[in-house]
Amino acid sequence: MEGVTDAPMRALLSERGGFNYCVSEFLRISQDVLPPKVYLEHIPELRADCRTPSGTPIQVQLLGGNEELLALSAVRACELGARAIDLNFGCPAPTVNRHDGGAALLRYPDRIRSIVAAVRAAVPAEFPVSAKLRLGWDDMNAIHLNAERAAEGGASWITIHARTKVQGYIPPAHWKYIGAVRKNLDIPVVANGEIWTREDFLKCRDETGCEHYMIGRGALADPELSWVISHELGLKLPSRCQSLEGSFSTRAREWLPLIERFAEHCAAHVETHSGAPYTVRRVKQWVKMASLKKELPWFELLKRTQTLSEVYAVLSQLD
Ligand SMILES: Cc1cc2nc3c(=O)[nH]c(=O)nc-3n(C[C@H](O)[C@H](O)[C@H](O)COP(=O)(O)O)c2cc1C
Repeated sequence: MEGVTDAPMRALLSERGGFNYCVSEFLRISQDVLPPKVYLEHIPELRADCRTPSGTPIQVQLLGGNEELLALSAVRACELGARAIDLNFGCPAPTVNRHDGGAALLRYPDRIRSIVAAVRAAVPAEFPVSAKLRLGWDDMNAIHLNAERAAEGGASWITIHARTKVQGYIPPAHWKYIGAVRKNLDIPVVANGEIWTREDFLKCRDETGCEHYMIGRGALADPELSWVISHELGLKLPSRCQSLEGSFSTRAREWLPLIERFAEHCAAHVETHSGAPYTVRRVKQWVKMASLKKELPWFELLKRTQTLSEVYAVLSQLD
């Protein structure tokens, strides 16, 4: 998630376990192929076999509307170490959409096919190329044709965020559309959107029948959600899995070690992500996202902190 799940957050969540892979934030390709520096700033893991420190593979996500540029950009990503590419056809941000990127492409199914095909043809055959779609621009039924076109273009799988661009992030997510698409496609379909709890997951699985799931905000709000879902899917549980309660504590003291660990990961990314202001800003964003679904009264105190020591002081004084 752009501006949220950066390299330190990927490192933290993947070492806790339950994820088969992560997707990078999008790199927006508009005028030219981006210089290597930009790839490496956003995805420093490219230098390490494009895996998080604990070994979870990362897909590099590209966003744009120009198939040739996207193909060249995907090639550059692979030259720098990428082993899988994801194409973003879901971002609803007006600036991105005005410049022919993200969800704007959902109005042009044939362009989705040709973009996927161009990137597929440019990237070594053994590297997956996938597509991330919303249900449509304003029509939820648009997903049928868009998904078909992505598959025709050679997508290895598609991920569907079960809302249109116009629906933004307003609940609910309309999972049943994912189920209908899954039944008609020969490639795997990954279900995404509004999975915050075990109950959400079970309902989503009922409605979609999918084998694969992507979690975004829920993974930040509940650092045990990936364990719970892995358990429900019958996957091997990570060794550090301590609880399958499915509802991570709301107590400040329980969050403190997670935040300390996140700060360690931030410090490890010396060039790009280090520095207390960066870390504090990210911690606030993270807890803000968690507080969308949880009562975290200590977030009010956290908001006023400026330094990491203040963050730690607040969290350790509270229960
Ligand atoms: C702040 C924010 C940034 C996001 N950035 C991206 C992005 O860079 N690429 C992407 O494919 N999806 C992005 N998304 C969408 C999420 O991947 C996901 O599809 C959406 O949040 C619904 O899933 P969730 O309910 O599990 O969060 C972003 C979402 C948010 C809230």
